[in-house]
Amino acid sequence: TVYPLLAAVAAYLLGSLSFAVIVTRVMGLSDPRTYGSKNPGATNVLRSGSKAAAVLTLLLDAVKGWLPVFAVRVWGAPYGMEEGTMALVGVAAFLGHLWPVFFRFEGGKGVATALGVVVGVSGWLGLAAGATWIIVAFFFRYSSLASLVAAVFAPVYYLIASGVVWYADARITLALGVMAMLLAWRHKDNIRRLLEGKESRLGSKSAGAR
Ligand code: G3P
Repeated sequence: TVYPLLAAVAAYLLGSLSFAVIVTRVMGLSDPRTYGSKNPGATNVLRSGSKAAAVLTLLLDAVKGWLPVFAVRVWGAPYGMEEGTMALVGVAAFLGHLWPVFFRFEGGKGVATALGVVVGVSGWLGLAAGATWIIVAFFFRYSSLASLVAAVFAPVYYLIASGVVWYADARITLALGVMAMLLAWRHKDNIRRLLEGKESRLGSKSAGAR
């Protein structure tokens, strides 16, 4: 059946909506690709000083990861779409965020969208990953470090809870692993700055990033 492929394309197109760019444009703020880390993401939008724009970016970038996974989970079965398609559309939305067709394939790092996908897989998993992000961010005040740790732990949590809360599906495990690896790779400049002690902390507007 062609449904999984159609769903993946739709998810990729949805993921391609770079909400950091869209939200700032609509709110009349400057383009996040021109300041700070230059990354079109909620963290960098926060450096503009607008918390509202950052929160909106975070929410909308997360929704575009959540929605396709949730939709397949709730409505997919009659069309032969189950866990495998959930994994596929989640990764497709994530890839859209990283390489958006509407923005010359120059997208973000995938943190919010990956979180949305994780929430779509399971609210509990989303809670665990979100709490991990918050705890690391609270103690170290680096958004990038918090994201890296949370992304690496998501598949770990998924596997640990398997057999207790759910049975881990190999394709979803793979999707979580692939997203964590791509997310880490997109953070390579952040990782270098973290190692050099030059990464900008949450709450400071000056991004050591340039
Ligand atoms: O993990 C949040 C991440 O996207 C970091 O963003 O702008 O500090 O590179 P930024």
